[in-house]
Amino acid sequence: MIFEEKQITLKNGQKAVLKSPCVEDAKKLLNYIKRASGETEYLLRYPEEWNLTVEQEEGWVSRLRMSPHVLAISCYVDGEVVGNCEINFKSDIKTSHRATIAIAIIKDYWNLGIGTACFNELIAAARKRGTEIMEIEFIEGNRRARHLYEKFGFCVVSEKPNAFKLRDGTYRKEFYMQKYL
Ligand SMILES: CC(C)(COP(=O)(O)OP(=O)(O)OC[C@H]1O[C@@H](n2cnc3c(N)ncnc32)[C@H](O)[C@@H]1OP(=O)(O)O)[C@@H](O)C(=O)NCCC(=O)NCCS
Repeated sequence: MIFEEKQITLKNGQKAVLKSPCVEDAKKLLNYIKRASGETEYLLRYPEEWNLTVEQEEGWVSRLRMSPHVLAISCYVDGEVVGNCEINFKSDIKTSHRATIAIAIIKDYWNLGIGTACFNELIAAARKRGTEIMEIEFIEGNRRARHLYEKFGFCVVSEKPNAFKLRDGTYRKEFYMQKYL
């Protein structure tokens, strides 16, 4: 799916562009996710686990753009990728009322309203599609994420104890949230 490009103004006055990730930006997209993964313990992988080649990433972006079931929105500032979010619309008959979302922004751009802008777009897309339930998961301790999700009406409905084990040996729960549209 393709997102129609939109300009937004961040809380610090900078301009940013929301648009579908582009195949020619595959290297930038890989660098962005590796960087974001090293800046927080709240993403699913450590940076070195992102070991796709640029060609593999190009293929992934291309499939994403063509998929009728995934909408990805990247946030660009001065031509650089600073964030990305996705909504995966489930397509099997028994689960097609649900859609799962994910989001990650690089640290220099936290708290500037990008997450809020992305959620507005993802919720609008889900409404347009007729989705009934939006879902997101987050790792225990991610207070900024939880605040953002609750601001948009997501509620924690279950938790998975010890879902993650960090390198320092500590365990984290995973929380699962839903929003009914
Ligand atoms: C979580 C994340 C997506 C939020 O995006 P963002 O662009 O920083 O979010 P916004 O600037 O739109 O909003 C942040 C909100 O959190 C609030 N906030 C900031 N720090 C907070 C904290 N420690 N506790 C609670 N709320 C906090 C801000 O005040 C703001 O609330 P408001 O809109 O009511 O004023 C982003 O910070 C991020 O990518 N973090 C690292 C990766 C990650 O955690 N991804 C989510 C995995 S589930």
